[in-house]
Amino acid sequence: NSLQLGKLSSQPTQIPEQNDLNLTHLKGRCPEDFDLLSIIGEGSYATVYLGKYKTSGKLYAVKVLDKRHMVREGKAKYAAVEKEALRKLSPHPYIVRLYYTFQDTYKLYFVLGYAKNGELLYYIRKLGSFGLDCVKFYSAELILAMEYMHSKGIVHRDIKPENLLLCENMHLILADFGTAKIISLVQDDSPLGRVSSFVGTADYVSPELLNYKRTSISSDLWALGCIIYQLIAGWPPFRGGTDYLTFQKVSNLDYTIPDGFPEEAADLIKQILVLDPQQRLGSNSRGGYENLKGHIFFEEVLWEQLHETTPPELK
Ligand code: ADE
Repeated sequence: NSLQLGKLSSQPTQIPEQNDLNLTHLKGRCPEDFDLLSIIGEGSYATVYLGKYKTSGKLYAVKVLDKRHMVREGKAKYAAVEKEALRKLSPHPYIVRLYYTFQDTYKLYFVLGYAKNGELLYYIRKLGSFGLDCVKFYSAELILAMEYMHSKGIVHRDIKPENLLLCENMHLILADFGTAKIISLVQDDSPLGRVSSFVGTADYVSPELLNYKRTSISSDLWALGCIIYQLIAGWPPFRGGTDYLTFQKVSNLDYTIPDGFPEEAADLIKQILVLDPQQRLGSNSRGGYENLKGHIFFEEVLWEQLHETTPPELK
């Protein structure tokens, strides 16, 4: 029961060409080249399908964005930023690969590498928490993805377990650059980062975004701290009964380290979950990634060989 990509776009009413969304490039692939087999992800502006390239049988993740919906909601630029970010970053072992983009009247298509083992969120839900070797391995792979992304001037702004995918060999892949921000590395005038109207996911949102509407690479570091805590504790550090209560906890740095939490992990988290983005471990003013990677929690990590290492069994 595969869907024909081309047929998905045939809707009854005509809309004018959306020239601001013209993303045509790359080797002339088109919707009809792919069979869409099933839905593997859904967001507010996009649906991700498992897609099969007809001539080779190769599988891809095909992200389909609805032009009219995006224009109506004032989100047209997000598609352009997502493509620009992926073109700057891809290919890289820890970043979802962009193969092709094309469009038809109603839709934009991003043909992406298919991460066969799905979301890290699935494994968190299944296992509750991870063993320390798994926490170290996956947080180290995330750090390498972030170090590379930030070196190219891209802030993700929505790092969370749903956007951490696992490839066939169980290595980590950072995905969904739909809310990324491209910053100028040479003239990022404010140490706090740029004014932003975007708010990410409550559990991982940084205090500077909540209180000053500012984001910078440090805001991604905050999300990293929340994820490391969650992988060990089994729940994120600032979870409240509602988004509002979560926001209050974030603003007040209201979290506790549970009994029995490994001491070196607690020290790492205390240095990352700091209200001032410039005082966060890993930020430029705190020694950047070298300092973060040098923390004792990561003592056994072989950073240069990580991608060639067999990942520890998830448990
Ligand atoms: N869900 C969203 N994007 C995906 C991808 N690239 N691979 C697998 N599942 C996904």
